[in-house]
Amino acid sequence: MERELIDKAKEAMKNAHAPYSGFQVGSCVLMKSGKTYTGCNIENASYGATNCAERTAIFKAVSEGEGEIEAIAIVSSGNMVTYPCGICRQVISEFMKEGKFIFENEKGEIITHTYKEIFPYSFTKEDLDKAEEN
Ligand code: THU
Repeated sequence: MERELIDKAKEAMKNAHAPYSGFQVGSCVLMKSGKTYTGCNIENASYGATNCAERTAIFKAVSEGEGEIEAIAIVSSGNMVTYPCGICRQVISEFMKEGKFIFENEKGEIITHTYKEIFPYSFTKEDLDKAEEN
C-alpha cells in the first residue's frame, strides 16, 4: 500500500506546474472509502496563488464527496524528504484524525510517520467546541 501511494504521487508530480520554484511535488491521499486521489503543486505568476500538491489532492477528494484521510504520500523533486507546509498541515488536520504519512528518502526507501508524530499539537474543530463550552 505504501509503495503504491508513493508511485501514484510520483506519477502526479509529473504534472506539477512549477516554473517559478522549479520544485515539483506530488501527493496521493488514500481515503477511508478506499479510493485514492492525487495532486501536484500548481504555481502562479502571482506567487501567493500557488496551491501545494497535498491541498490539490485533498481538495479533489473532498469535492468528490470524500470525508476522512487514511494515509497521505508526499514526494518531491528535492533531495530530502518533503514534509507538508504549514498551510497544508492545517488543511490535512481538518480531514485526518489518525493514520499514516508516507515519504521516500534520498535512497528510495519508504519512511512513515504517524499522524501524532507530524501533528503533536494541531488546531482542529475540537478546539472550537471547547471554546463554546466556556
Ligand atoms: N510545495 C508543495 O507542493 N508541498 C509542500 O509541502 C511544500 C511546498 C510546493 C509549493 C511551491 O510550488 C513549491 O513547492 C516551492 O515551495
